[in-house]
Amino acid sequence: MTKDQSLRREGEHLLSEIKSLGEELLAESNEPALLPAIYTRRSIRKFVDTPLTGDEVQVLLEAGLRAPSSKNKHTTQFVLVEDRETLDRLSRMRESGALFLQQVPLGIVVLGSPMECERWIADASLAAGYIQLQAEALGLGSCWADAYGCYTGAGQESAEYVRNVLDIPYQLEVLCILAIGHKAGEAAPRPTETLKWEKIHIGRYQMAEEPTEEA
Ligand SMILES: Cc1cc2nc3c(=O)[nH]c(=O)nc-3n(C[C@H](O)[C@H](O)[C@H](O)COP(=O)(O)O)c2cc1C
Repeated sequence: MTKDQSLRREGEHLLSEIKSLGEELLAESNEPALLPAIYTRRSIRKFVDTPLTGDEVQVLLEAGLRAPSSKNKHTTQFVLVEDRETLDRLSRMRESGALFLQQVPLGIVVLGSPMECERWIADASLAAGYIQLQAEALGLGSCWADAYGCYTGAGQESAEYVRNVLDIPYQLEVLCILAIGHKAGEAAPRPTETLKWEKIHIGRYQMAEEPTEEA
């Protein structure tokens, strides 16, 4: 092992120790606390070659199916893809931005149904977000690859491209493909103080330069 690799490994080990210490502290405290998965989740685009277990996949899908849905219609559908060649084709649904699908163990294609539910984007996005958080809670990494409203390198709609690869009926729209697998590396959680707290307005909207009451 090179010095670089051993330093990286040591860094990753320390990071995971800090994370579990943080999780223990959160669990012990009586303060309202974020779910650990919400705190630690980052987009992961590099994966090791280990397949997911059937139980892991089942739990991920249950998370998606439990997401809130407009009028309780639950019209979001999911296509699971593990076949390497198919994932390779799907990675080309965009000129760039989806190439990480080439080496992911599992792709979950998230489909909405505009004819059944006009709020399909909101429903499908919530389902995708729930799956990503559940993946983090299982120690897995995930990343959203955008399809809806995007284009291939040749100018074809990405959603149309995916529809052809997977035989998706014309009534359904392709929102995104979630890449899910065991992480090949960690990304540090964003420190709380670096979040965009200025996006929050209390009581009424305040322009950034507008003085606050105390000023
Ligand atoms: C609606 C949406 C579309 C996204 N599309 C892509 C994408 O096509 N390719 C990609 O690599 N990441 C994509 N991402 C991931 C974002 O780039 C990522 O969430 C963002 O950079 C913040 O990083 P974090 O998830 O690690 O906090 C998308 C995320 C969202 C919510």
